[in-house]
Amino acid sequence: MLAELACFVEKCGARFAITDAIYNCTRCGGLLEVRFTEDLMDPESLKRVWRERRLCNNALDQSGVWRYRELLPFDGHHQQAISLREGNTPLLDGPRAAEYGGLRQLRFKHQGFNPTGSFKDNGMTCGVTQAIRLGRKRVACVSTGNTSASMAAYASAAGLDPIVFIPHGNISYGKLAQALEYGARTLQVEANFDQILALVRELADRAGIYLLNSINPFRIEGQKTIIFEMLDQCDWNSPDWIVLPGGNLGNTSAFGKALRELREFGLIAKIPRLAVIQAEGAAPFYEFMRTGAEFESVKDPHTLATAIKIGDPVSWPKAFHEVTASNGVVEKVSEQEIADAKAIIGRCGIGCEPASAATLAGIRKLTRASVIQCDETVIAVLTGNLLKDPDYIYRYHTGQLKDPEGGLIEPRFGNQPVVVPNDPAVIRKILGD
Ligand code: F0G
Repeated sequence: MLAELACFVEKCGARFAITDAIYNCTRCGGLLEVRFTEDLMDPESLKRVWRERRLCNNALDQSGVWRYRELLPFDGHHQQAISLREGNTPLLDGPRAAEYGGLRQLRFKHQGFNPTGSFKDNGMTCGVTQAIRLGRKRVACVSTGNTSASMAAYASAAGLDPIVFIPHGNISYGKLAQALEYGARTLQVEANFDQILALVRELADRAGIYLLNSINPFRIEGQKTIIFEMLDQCDWNSPDWIVLPGGNLGNTSAFGKALRELREFGLIAKIPRLAVIQAEGAAPFYEFMRTGAEFESVKDPHTLATAIKIGDPVSWPKAFHEVTASNGVVEKVSEQEIADAKAIIGRCGIGCEPASAATLAGIRKLTRASVIQCDETVIAVLTGNLLKDPDYIYRYHTGQLKDPEGGLIEPRFGNQPVVVPNDPAVIRKILGD
């Protein structure tokens, strides 16, 4: 659809061309969001077109992002899209996790099934496509790991020059390995995520870099399709709750925007409530919502769920708007709660990375507090693949996982590997035969 960039600060209201390479309002510094400037097709025809595209061999129709192109701001430019067949992620039933979380039923929308193993691919295909549209050759991001893996893949697929900035020693090897293998110039900075983001924003203007962090509104547009596809898979019947982890809060912003648009264009009747879950040591958004005071960043965030180890989330004003508009909630969970929930998701045969497991830990807390009722319909979004952080898994199951303060995390659902001799009799005995 035809669209423009609009300042998210209502009383500013500045508007910019969709091809302006800016990340903040040049008048007031506010966040930017894409606004459509034309009407959508009739919703029933659209639902039919989107369903039919699933049967088509056309690359864009096969993408779980570009299939929904009528709700993306690439009017006439989607043929330039750089796609790795992102999206198409399943909705999976997790009965054990439901029981653990105090629910009758729980479904997981598993974004770890994406080409680079995280939800970032939904946004990155759009971000990189916008870089191409703007004729940019160099793209960069600061990342806790998944954004850099995704950007490296999409930028290299597009023949661009990817540069990633990561906090030295603070991302999992799985993610670092991806950035290297996909050919990104990888700079490990001795600072935390928030400090590096400030650094990269300063560099971007001078070095001709197109910035692909979630402050980039085209990333947010792509991430909306996680919700479009989820609702499509639910035959457009909204669940009561959508639960997701919160770090830099780009995804919360994207989900809220997607739901508002679906409602506004008549594709869904009801907006589900958003429940955003943060890790206790990196929970500035939780504190802000709880106290109602001024937003205060956490100077030294800590959590083993490194993907969400962020103390100064740039998208908090948007996330605040979206959580409020959906009558949602924000919760925080401990390292032990994340680790146990993660093991339970694993035992469903599903698995995920630590940040994603914050969802189930949060659900358990929210049902116990009667915020979520046991018979409500809940979809938790698993943001990253289990293999992103195998070191964490091995340490948990072998009783070696320590929280950031050095306290041992109890392997309540641990599954120790056992060393055995090459002797069938002994092995039979161990197996209880
Ligand atoms: N889950 C995973 C697996 C993530 O990688 C991230 C963010 C989040 C949740 C939180 O999403 O920031 O939109 O609130 N990872 C970013 C990165 C920051 O650099 O890969 P958010």
